Amino acid sequence: MSGMAMAVPDDKVDEVAAFFAEQQVQPAAPVKPELVEQGEKLYVAGNPASGITACAACHGPNGNGNPAAKFPALGAQHAAYTIKQLQMFRDGSRANDPNQMMRDIATRLTEQEIEALAMYLSTL
Ligand code: HEC
Repeated sequence: MSGMAMAVPDDKVDEVAAFFAEQQVQPAAPVKPELVEQGEKLYVAGNPASGITACAACHGPNGNGNPAAKFPALGAQHAAYTIKQLQMFRDGSRANDPNQMMRDIATRLTEQEIEALAMYLSTL
């Protein structure tokens, strides 16, 4: 990424930023629509039985995140990307989450729950 960023002249950085700021987020049609409802429930309410905190508590009810608290936006994300990140938090190969916030949650998620969450998030 830094290689690409270096190629942008300083006086063009604002233009590039403005271009991306103007783009509209396009939610996708979920690949497995039958999983969306389960994903929504888990996202909004978590799963007290398996100790999964509601994702919405940190990532916001609309998946917009909370930039001030450094909780990233998740809405309209490609499902394959979300699935990959949750699997990596779960197996520990992604470990940049403060206080293991995401790793603690991801280890409690089943493969099916990860898929359901990813389907739901792609629709936000
Ligand atoms: C206690 C707060 C908290 C809760 C609850 C939480 N997350 Fe996170 N999540 C974070 C933080 C902080 C990060 C950013 C880690 C980093 O990259 O620095 C993150 C990152 C992520 C990412 C990676 C985003 C990206 O752009 O790479 C995904 C996907 C994600 N969370 C999904 C979820 C899901 C699904 C749930 C519910 C099952 C959830 N999170 C619950 C705090 C939380």
